[in-house]
Amino acid sequence: MSSIHPDSIKNIHKLSIAPMMDCTDKHFRMIMRKISSKALLYTEMIVAQSLIYTNQREKFLDFNNEEHPLSIQFGGDNPEILKDAARMAEDWGYDEINFNVGCPSPRVCSGNFGASLMSDPKKVAQCIESLRNNCSLPVTIKHRIGVDNNDSFLNLNNFVRDVANAGAGRFTVHARKAILKGLNPRQNRTIPPLRYDVVKKLKKINPEILIEINGGFKNIDESIKALSDFDGVMIGRAVYKHPLRWSEIDQRVYGIHSKPKSASSIIFSLIPYIEKHLSNGGKSWDICKHLINLVEGIPKAKVWRNEISTKSIKNELDIKYLLKLTSRLEEMGY
Ligand SMILES: Cc1cc2nc3c(=O)[nH]c(=O)nc-3n(C[C@H](O)[C@H](O)[C@H](O)COP(=O)(O)O)c2cc1C
Repeated sequence: MSSIHPDSIKNIHKLSIAPMMDCTDKHFRMIMRKISSKALLYTEMIVAQSLIYTNQREKFLDFNNEEHPLSIQFGGDNPEILKDAARMAEDWGYDEINFNVGCPSPRVCSGNFGASLMSDPKKVAQCIESLRNNCSLPVTIKHRIGVDNNDSFLNLNNFVRDVANAGAGRFTVHARKAILKGLNPRQNRTIPPLRYDVVKKLKKINPEILIEINGGFKNIDESIKALSDFDGVMIGRAVYKHPLRWSEIDQRVYGIHSKPKSASSIIFSLIPYIEKHLSNGGKSWDICKHLINLVEGIPKAKVWRNEISTKSIKNELDIKYLLKLTSRLEEMGY
């Protein structure tokens, strides 16, 4: 029988921003941190084996101090390698380690990790134990409700209990199964139906296990509603594409008394960060590719985005120009 893990209690995060490859890099996370001071942020998935053998560790691991609380997500299936990865995550100053058992990419699954591991709860338990035994960080897991024909509630429930016993402190459940034969990763995020009912049942019969729901949440209202059934809610695409729609997370989810930020105030607050990135030889597009999503649903939003994109793709965007365009936004009240 699963038991309450000591980490679980302190490990409650009501809302988190999903790990997304090619999206949730440190620049996007900085933007999100300006939007919410509280939401739990995640790195993109880092393949533990690549981390161990690279000679560019900082490229994988570096983050900005402002990003806390920050969870590092590992993919892998080798407890020995995960042991070293866990130590690095702790040394580098992350707040939590998340283990990926939900990624349906054929490249990932051919290495026998990601979603395919759902059929091997013993191996997942060993990986979680290895992560836990080699650092003092909370270890959490992100997974699906099933994979291919392994989609019974009984198997899901056994998986969660086995992995809870191994020490996982929170389960983020993407409420779809993964279909590894026949669907690509993108289709695997839309075609298998969302089954919140399955995750609700999982929580109901395992009240002591922290369960965060993920998949398909579009706005704050839906997310707050989900918190009456689940311990947390994780948002992916809707935040990446429409970050400003989430500007009231601190006030409405965490009860903080502050004013939600406007697009212009967020961009102004990022200016020193962008300046530093440029002066270190970074490209403006690295940041602006995420930043442009902040400006939408207002007059001439498209023009604003085009101007920023065109200049920054050519690496011709300077801070003076960005300030000028952002002041225009501010004058319009955005
Ligand atoms: C572009 C993209 C990249 C993703 N990369 C990861 C990843 O690295 N690790 C992971 O666990 N999930 C990844 N996901 C899945 C999301 O974390 C999330 O589970 C999924 O998008 C469902 O949530 P949503 O409907 O709120 O977007 C990715 C999703 C997208 C759209």
